[in-house]
This record gives sequence, structure tokens and C-alpha cells, in this order.
Amino acid sequence: MRKRLPIILLLVILNVIQLLAQVEHNTIDNKIEEIIKQLSLKEKIDMCHAQSKFSSPGVPRLGIPEIWMSDGPHGVRAEIAWDTWDHAGWSNDSCTAFPALTCLAATFNPQLSYKYGKAIGEEARYRKKDILLGPGVNIYRTPLNGRNFEYMGEDPYLASKLVVPYIKGVQENGVAACVKHYILNNQEHWRDHINVKLSDRALYEIYLPAFKAAVLEGEVWSIMGAYNKMRGQFCCHNELLVNKILKDDWAFEGVLVTDWGATHDTKEAAIYGLDIEMGTGTDGLTSSSKNAYDNYYLANPFLELLKSGEIDESVVDDKVRRILRLMFRTNMDKNRPYGKMTNQQHFDVAREIAAEGIVLLKNDKAFFPIDPDTKQTIAVIGENATRSMTVGGGSSELKTKHEISPLNGIQKRFKNARIVHAMGYASGPSVYGRVLPTSLNADSLKRAAIEVAEEADIVLFVGGLNKSHHQDCEGDDRKQFELPFGQDDLLNEILKVNKNTAVVMVSGNAVEMPWISKVKALIQAWYLGSEAGHAIADVLSGDVNPSGKLPFSFPVKLEDNGAHSFGDISYPGDGINQEYKEDILVGYRWHDTKKIKPLFAFGYGMSYTTFKMMNAKTDKSTYKNGEVIKVSCEIKNTGETKGAEVIQVYANDVEASVLRPLKELKAFNKVMLNAGEVQTVTFEIPVNDLAFFDNSIMDWNLESGQFKLMVGTSSCDIKKVLQFKVQN
Ligand code: BGC
Repeated sequence: MRKRLPIILLLVILNVIQLLAQVEHNTIDNKIEEIIKQLSLKEKIDMCHAQSKFSSPGVPRLGIPEIWMSDGPHGVRAEIAWDTWDHAGWSNDSCTAFPALTCLAATFNPQLSYKYGKAIGEEARYRKKDILLGPGVNIYRTPLNGRNFEYMGEDPYLASKLVVPYIKGVQENGVAACVKHYILNNQEHWRDHINVKLSDRALYEIYLPAFKAAVLEGEVWSIMGAYNKMRGQFCCHNELLVNKILKDDWAFEGVLVTDWGATHDTKEAAIYGLDIEMGTGTDGLTSSSKNAYDNYYLANPFLELLKSGEIDESVVDDKVRRILRLMFRTNMDKNRPYGKMTNQQHFDVAREIAAEGIVLLKNDKAFFPIDPDTKQTIAVIGENATRSMTVGGGSSELKTKHEISPLNGIQKRFKNARIVHAMGYASGPSVYGRVLPTSLNADSLKRAAIEVAEEADIVLFVGGLNKSHHQDCEGDDRKQFELPFGQDDLLNEILKVNKNTAVVMVSGNAVEMPWISKVKALIQAWYLGSEAGHAIADVLSGDVNPSGKLPFSFPVKLEDNGAHSFGDISYPGDGINQEYKEDILVGYRWHDTKKIKPLFAFGYGMSYTTFKMMNAKTDKSTYKNGEVIKVSCEIKNTGETKGAEVIQVYANDVEASVLRPLKELKAFNKVMLNAGEVQTVTFEIPVNDLAFFDNSIMDWNLESGQFKLMVGTSSCDIKKVLQFKVQN
């Protein structure tokens, strides 16, 4: 009896907490209904569309504030002018630039995603933003997509696991995350009109899960619709995507915001679920006319349809209800914290994520780490050694308080070495929507680089892509898979005079690497933000043992990628339509199933230490619908340095009645181990996660039969295959 009392007490307390939460919820719901009663039709309409480039109006008469938004997703964007895309010219809007989301995905570390979200949310709050336009979770379908760097890779499970903590971190600040771009904006080319055709299976298995996780697990307060069409209807007012899936099936109670200039029709926008219209007409992407806000699709034209009775007032009430709910969570929450900006802690978070996301892809004869105590000449060659990667790229551009370049970071860490530098090639200035050639002479840049390489003990080639048009940038795609600006040629010339050459690849996408067998080592260094150079030096010096894993496959050549295997209709489309012919076989699902070996596989990444995995097993040999598969294994650090390994569990349905990918990621766990340490790692995989989306019943289908779980350290490095049965 004495023992049971505390449990009863606990239950009472829990009940009270639940009750209070319910009361709070009900009170807010009641308040919202009270407000709606007091609003005029015009006031309601006003709340549903922009009043400036990044804000929508409130109702001053009732003390309802405006909503202010900012891009995202890697830092809080500098203030933009009221009506144009110009910078407003503030002197107090510099931010911490966090690493690009590809880097965050490469950490395979949900805890870091939470830290990322919390820190960027604090900055957004400090800047008085109510909605942060990010993160992005469009799936990496082709390495040509100009915006892959803003997303979380090619795997729906990985993106789902990482998007949730980011959202929670942001929203703890009383700032709404706005997960974008819903959905299928998987290329920039023709993004404003291309009509995507795909199977229900591909939609549900590949492209929807990260958004679903954002809504159901992340409880995100807003979502941004995509520019493109799906099955003939624009995504921002798409009956299936918005009304049925988002708002009905997932019971999303937040706000659907358009992408800027992505609304096309008043009636559709009204009845197919759009809540706030932004960027129409004044968006700089189409025609620019000042103060055209009253002419927005969801402004006067909407008012007319409501007044005439063609659309019922309940339609606008639903939008206003959602907007007010978002406000009660953000700018009408008196208790929200105040935020912080560019404090040391934020730069530390940026550096930690950057260093943990760097992926070691090749390391012949332990080329890395480079001993900082050795007196030697290190040639740092390449434009990306000094080029700013926080400016450019489109809407994710940042004005950061500082940005440590790779050259700077290397100079600071390798004080005993003589660091020599040559640009090697030049790409020209970064301007949105245009390619501006460089005025520098390619031959003399090359000659200077070769001279520098000749006299060095080690060459670090810091190249890749950049944030200019047709590179890793919004608005259009890359035009080629190979490295631009003559880098392949330059690298080959450098290798002729100095074989001791390694590559630091700065990009948000896979690139062709015809020189890979000749270079000694390679790290994938992404766009790392304010602390880029420090993080690179952390890894090169061995201060940080690399533990990043690729969040997408690197094909040998472009045609090895699924989306590029079916001609133009699959990518980029015929100008009107596009068909996702590779269906569910995106990324490693394609490479594995079609037996096309990638250059570097999804989930791959090396360490300065070595690991051994042992005793992988499942708890049973047969599972029923609704049960959980418990998988465990031991992992040992068999080297001499502390390091982290990511154990990955992939599934395969051996006896399926439909084509199933050879591998699908179902669980992962990152484990930090001291030298010699052994840890047991456990995973719990709901057996229903092994189902496929069955087009014939429009639902998930878990078939009985033989299954496999593959436990390994990358999609191409499976250490143990576990067989079991599913019996329904
Ligand atoms: C981009 C969005 C961005 C918006 C506002 C659009 O062009 O696609 O991602 O949030 O502009 O800058």
C-alpha cells in the first residue's frame, strides 16, 4: 500500500497536467473563436496575404500583430526591403551562418539537429521573426538540382529523423518553423510550372515521409507549398496534397504558406487549402509592381467571391483560425523567450555541426590527419579556399558576422607549416539568375598554381562548386556533372608535379571525379557556414576525428543516377510535364537494386580509427503485424583514437509480390567510442515499417514472408544479414 501511493500521486499529477494543457488549448480555441466573431470580412482577408515582401498584416484595431517571416534554413537572412528583393541596409542584422542542411544530414546525429534548430530559432526570435522559412526536406533525386544543399539528402528515413528535432528546437523559441517545399520541388529548372507525374507508391514511400514526420512528430506550425505542379494542379493549392493528405490524413492544424509567387488562382487557393499568399507579382520572379498586395489572389478577388456567396465564409474562417493559432504560439505568446544573436555559443554549435558533418571519403596510407607540429610547406590551391560561401545561393544567402575561410582556418591551425596559396582558377562574381564571367586570366592562374604545387610537401586542393547561378544555387540547376571552371584539368596538372595531393571538396552536390584514383585523400566539406575554415582544420589536423556519412550517393557518371536513366522526360521533363520514371528507386535504392556501383555510397564515410561490429541479432525469428523487432549488435573501436561510428540497419522484403528496393534504411545510431571500447547498440524497428505503399489498395501493405535486416556501417558495407519471417 505504502509503495502504491507515489504511483497514484504521479498519475494524479499527470492527469492535472493533461487537464491544464487541455484547458489552455480550449482557452486558446475559445479566444480564437471570439476574435473571429469580431473580425470584418476585409480584416480576415487581409490576414491571408502579404503586406510586404516578408510580412502579412495584423488587425491593429484588436491588437493583433503582423506576422514577420525570414529565410532560413541555414541562418536568419539579412533584412529585405519592403517591396523589392534589395537588402534593407540594416547594420544590426548579421547572423551566425550554420552549415548547410546537407552537412547536418551527414552528421547522422539527431541531437545536433536539435541544437541547430534551437540556435537558429534563438536568432530568428532575437530578430523578431515569427516564422523561419525552413528547414527544407525535398528529396535528393538528381545531383543537378541547384538546391540540394538546402535539403537533407536522398533518404526519407534519414530526413524524417533529422527534421523533427530541428523543428522542436526552433519552435521552443516561440518561432514557427516552416518546412518546405511541399512537395516535389526536386529540381530548380522549370520549377515554376513543371507538372510532376509519379506513382502513389513513390509519393508515399519517398517524397512524403519527411513532411509527414514534420507534421505528426515535429508538430510543425507551418509548411511552405512548392512552386511546381503535381498531377496537373499547382502544389500550393492542390486538392490531394493539401486538403486530403496534409490537412485531412495528417490533421495538420498549422498554416500553409505559399512559396513566393507560387499562387495562381483565387478559387483554387481558397478551397484547396492555401492559408497565406506571399510574393505574388512583386516577387521579382515575375513582373514587379509596387504595392500590389490588394490585388493578390487571396485579397480583393477572394473578397469578391466571398461577398457574392460563391465561396462560403467558413473557408476564410478556417484560414484565419489557423493563422491565429500560429500567432498564439508565436507573437501572441507573452511567455516566449527573447532569443540571442551571434553569441559564441551559436558559433560553437555551427563549428561542432560543421566538423561532425565533414565526410572522409578517401585516405590512402593515413594521409590525413596532417600533423600540425611538422615543419613543412602546405600548398592550399583553389578558389574555394578563400571564396565566401554564405553569400549567393538564392534565398538562403546570408550576411554573417564572420566567415572563416578554409585557407584562414588552415593557417591558424598549422602554425608550424609554411602555407602557400594560389587561386588556381576563377569563377566570376556571384549574381542571382546570371552567370558573370571572371576577368582573371585562366592560364596565368593555372601557371601560378602549378609553381606553388611544385615547391610544396603537400597540396590541398580546395575546389568544388559555389553559390553562383548554375552551381549550387536557387533558380536553376547545374548544367554539368563534372567540376566547373577547368578544375579537372587543373587538378590533373597539379598531380603531374606533386603526387602528394588531397582534395577538400566544397559543394552541396555530388560531382564527377575522374582523378579520384590519383589523389591521396578526399574530404567532402559541404558549405559549412561561419566556422567553415575552423571545422575543416579540426578534421585535417585530427583535433576532430571525422564521423560524417554521405546523405546521398555519388554516382560515377550522371547516367548512373536513377532520374537520369530514362531520358529527358524523367529529367528535366519536356517543359510541361515530367515523369519520375525511376519510381521508388531513388539514390541508393537505384544503385543497389540495379547493381550499378556508385563512386561513394549512401551512408559511407571513414574515420581515423577502425571499428569492428559483432554479434548482430534480432530478438525473435518471426514477427507479427504491430510487433517491434529488437535488433542489437556490439561495436568496438579497434584503433587508437576516440571516434564515432554510425551503425545503419537496412531492410529487404525477400518474398515481396511487388518490386522492393534491395535496401531501405530503417534505423541508425551514432556511437562515440574511446580506443578499445565496446558498446552494445540496440534498435527497435516497428514491423509495420517494413510495409510498402500498395497502389491497388491505396494503403500500406505488410506482406507475410521472409525478410532480411542488414546491419552495417554504410549502404555498401553490410557486416551482418539477419533473416526472419513476418507472419500476418
Ligand atoms: C524560395 C523559398 C524562400 C522564398 C522567400 C523562394 O524563391 O523558393 O525557399 O523561402 O523565396 O525568399
